[in-house]
Amino acid sequence: MTQIELRGIEKFFGAVQVIHNLNLAIADNEFIVLLGQSGCGKTTTLRAIAGLETIDQGDILIDGKAVQHLRAADRDIAMVFQSFSLYPHMTVFENIAFPLRATRMGSGEVDKSVREVARVLRITDLLGKKPSALSGGDMQRVAIGRALVRRPKAMLMDEPIGALDAKLREEMRAEIKRLHVKQGSTTIYVTHDQIEAMSLADRIVIMHEGFIQQVGTPDEVYSHPANLFVAQFVGSPVMNVADAAVAGKASFASVIVGDATTGFEFPSALLSKLNGHAGGQLALGIRPEGVLIRRDAADGFMAVETQIVEPLGSFDIVDLKVGSKMLRARTKSGFVSGPGEKVFARIDPTQAHFFDKASGKSLEVRL
Ligand SMILES: Nc1ncnc2c1ncn2[C@@H]1O[C@H](COP(=O)(O)OP(=O)(O)OP(=O)(O)O)[C@@H](O)[C@H]1O
Ligand SMILES: [Mg+2]
Repeated sequence: MTQIELRGIEKFFGAVQVIHNLNLAIADNEFIVLLGQSGCGKTTTLRAIAGLETIDQGDILIDGKAVQHLRAADRDIAMVFQSFSLYPHMTVFENIAFPLRATRMGSGEVDKSVREVARVLRITDLLGKKPSALSGGDMQRVAIGRALVRRPKAMLMDEPIGALDAKLREEMRAEIKRLHVKQGSTTIYVTHDQIEAMSLADRIVIMHEGFIQQVGTPDEVYSHPANLFVAQFVGSPVMNVADAAVAGKASFASVIVGDATTGFEFPSALLSKLNGHAGGQLALGIRPEGVLIRRDAADGFMAVETQIVEPLGSFDIVDLKVGSKMLRARTKSGFVSGPGEKVFARIDPTQAHFFDKASGKSLEVRL
């Protein structure tokens, strides 16, 4: 059982504040991913929890007990870094056993613990090898093994597979997930790769410039981004965002994108759901899969011209000119043959997001 709670954490480096009033409650056995751009404070947060960095304000609670004054060694938390350093002169077995040698554990028990961890990580056949004989992925497995062998209260991982090539990263991602399901331990994992975050996390914490932007399951942050930052940070290709104006027509609401001369048709309910914001400065957000296109005219579809077509294997991304604005649509591959084609587009109202332009906050319109 390990719960971790961060309450009102503030951190300065000199005069610069890098963490602002950070609050987060992590449940036992939960896999939490801290996601954000370089410099947003992910590593600092992780190091503060581990006890490798002091904090200037707030409480860090492990199972309800404040630990911010405890030394790292007394917090019983293991950390795996991107640049893992194995002892080159020791075998894999000795590298994993190392943290146990410092305890009073008998050699029989050390042997048993190391072999158990090696079995889970599927590196039993490497136990006799030296690090120089290992691949990058295997080295990282050993580093994880060394962190796990003490059976710590929680695992903290800072971009543990960031240095590996794309194929190996994908493999290790699946491995880390399998390990978590099997072993179960409260885990906080740092990455700037949103795909890694989506695939691993029970909940993602999206950070920007030292502030938490949103905490939610992968589906929540993808389907209901709290603000424009999250909307454009999560998801690939990125969400289209455009200035929008909404006007009421006889039987529908018209959403005009940028300086376009006609609007997209939305259900009239949009006006009441915008709740007084309809006249204000709005931004419309729509993911490429929410921009629907067809070849012939139909009710509610607007004539548009295609621009660049990007073939991405299993699908294409097509740029559509709407006024002077470009909207990107996701289509079956080969649906559009190239630029300059006339097609008909519509925005799926159930996939549309509306934001207040000034604050960037989602207006949480659900149609
Ligand atoms: N020891 C330090 N002294 C001064 N400033 C620091 C120190 N460590 C980090 N910072 C600054 O604090 C901010 C947050 O850094 P941090 O390393 O936590 O970011 P990060 O999200 O882990 O970034 P990255 O993805 O690049 O690893 C950055 O502006 C960084 O320059
Ligand atoms: Mg970092």
